[in-house]
Amino acid sequence: MKSKYLYIQTIGCQMNVYDSERIIQGLKPLGYEMTASLPRADVILLNTCAIREKAEQKAFSFLGRLADLKKKNPSLIIGIGGCVAQQEGEKIIRRAPHIDLVFGTHTIHRLPEMIQRIIHRRCRVVDIEMSEWIDEDDAVMAAPGNGGPARFVTIMRGCDNFCAYCVVPYVRGRETSRKPENIISEIQALVSSGVREVTLLGQNVNSYGKKEGLCSFSELLKRVNAVEGLLRIRFTTSHPKDLSEDLIRAFGRFDKLCHHIHLPVQSGADKVLKRMNRRYTREQYLDKIEALRRVCPDIAVTSDFIVGFPGETRDDFKETLDLIEQVRFDGVFAFKYSDRPKAPAAAFPGKVEETQKADRLQQLFDLQSDISIQKNQMLVGSTLTVLVEGESKKQDEVAIQASGKKVQWTGRTSSNKIVNFTIDENPVFSGDGSVGSLVDVHIEKAFPHSLWGGPVDRRLPHPACMKGAESYAA
Ligand code: 5AD
Ligand code: SF4
Repeated sequence: MKSKYLYIQTIGCQMNVYDSERIIQGLKPLGYEMTASLPRADVILLNTCAIREKAEQKAFSFLGRLADLKKKNPSLIIGIGGCVAQQEGEKIIRRAPHIDLVFGTHTIHRLPEMIQRIIHRRCRVVDIEMSEWIDEDDAVMAAPGNGGPARFVTIMRGCDNFCAYCVVPYVRGRETSRKPENIISEIQALVSSGVREVTLLGQNVNSYGKKEGLCSFSELLKRVNAVEGLLRIRFTTSHPKDLSEDLIRAFGRFDKLCHHIHLPVQSGADKVLKRMNRRYTREQYLDKIEALRRVCPDIAVTSDFIVGFPGETRDDFKETLDLIEQVRFDGVFAFKYSDRPKAPAAAFPGKVEETQKADRLQQLFDLQSDISIQKNQMLVGSTLTVLVEGESKKQDEVAIQASGKKVQWTGRTSSNKIVNFTIDENPVFSGDGSVGSLVDVHIEKAFPHSLWGGPVDRRLPHPACMKGAESYAA
């Protein structure tokens, strides 16, 4: 049988990365192998994100570039899925006649059937039906043994929070949780294939299981913590309004739970938080950070911010900068506000000029970059345990020569900091390229987005340290 090739492009969040894994797994029984070459592909799928305007534009520009390929190869199947597909549906096919398939965020399990239909009937298919049930999703789990030792596992989908700027509740539907036993068996399968770290995914993990009367999120963590062979657990995202005492205590209770929390705050000004419908105040947010640091003093905290939300004044923005200084986050993601279809804020008055937004974003990044580097510098001289993820993509020849080792490895600390390092033992423990051991690394140099280190018994500084490290891009 002639091999068939699948090219898949994923845009956006971790949820999409996970969904793409499920797509790959679902199409395997039809004989599709992955290819990184567009012209070689028999099926090209684009898994899209609608959270910000920029991500959506990226999707349409990628699709536009495929029209020529379709002209050269009319039997090529081009499909679009994810949040943009859910949002736009049929309109996509009308706008781009070279697209054969539009599938939604709830119909990934029917994708093999859709592709068969297109091949046999040469028709076009749009299936963006939304369902309340998540069980059918369990029919296609992510492929074990595909990729590195750290993997995502979706524990719930959808969101019921309706933040004023956000499209997620409209394109991912209502909040629905997977059964704990299905989550655990997926994690066990991943662990048997070499996975050592899982990140549990949901828009708001703290409300896991509440609607369905399943176990609480902390109970789920307890069960995941008991999975033999698993070394680390992370989760994302937690809504500050729902971050419970119980979950805060989990950081002191479960040995595999990494010392990092991503807790999006979005703004430091109460007025803006209220209009965003976030349902917490600045003070309540700060109290939660304090409680987390009491239970787990070395916990790393990261956050998301939106700048230029409608009606955000200079003073409101100053409060955001002030909050950043007060919390001293380990890292942040920040975005210029963009209108999203259906999200109520699209109709809010007081739109902020693009130049203002860009200026605020830059100020925020400048401040955070100073904080990140200072926090990273404090780690120089310490020994941190790193889960080895693989060879560093960017091999630092100077560092490698100085260490006398052949390659530079990369991994993450419990606090989610990227560490590039050379080390005596070869951390690859299996011949197929999967890594996943925990190694102690002596931290020798700090950069804004990463750390550099070497073996614990070697105390030589990174050569770049001696001549200033500005040119060393992490
Ligand atoms: N404009 C800009 N940023 C947004 N986000 C969500 N919606 C928008 C929007 N309309 C950001 C938030 C969220 C992150 C995933 O994306 O900060 O936490
Ligand atoms: Fe969007 Fe708010 Fe839900 Fe997060 S919690 S997905 S920002 S609506």
